[in-house]
Amino acid sequence: MKVKRFGVSLEEDLLKSLDNLVKTHQFPNRSQAIRYLINKNLTEEKWNTNVFVAGAIVLVYDHHKRDLQNRSTNLQHDYHDLILSVQHVHLDHHNCLETIAVKGKAKDLKSLADKLIALKGIKHGQLVMSTSG
Ligand code: NI
Repeated sequence: MKVKRFGVSLEEDLLKSLDNLVKTHQFPNRSQAIRYLINKNLTEEKWNTNVFVAGAIVLVYDHHKRDLQNRSTNLQHDYHDLILSVQHVHLDHHNCLETIAVKGKAKDLKSLADKLIALKGIKHGQLVMSTSG
């Protein structure tokens, strides 16, 4: 695709933030960082729509937390039609890492992820979605 150049005016603070992003993500230059941000935003804007997407819900939790696994399993059964696979890894004596591969309408995936991440005892939770196009 043809690449067009344009000028961008930014406050000093914002430019500093952009340069930090270039550094932390190891982008080769500012243009690549801006491309990344635009694509990320476009994908996230689709999160509340009926667009079909694929993704993964990543959860880290302590399996000793009372009822947590039960509740998580119940929720996953409520949304079984969205779930392609579940990978469970025992990280150490307490912690589990679960990666749930999902496919369906973006807003439904978001709804499932929000409910899982909100469960009491979840230490970390994140939904990653990607459009096929
Ligand atoms: Ni485990």
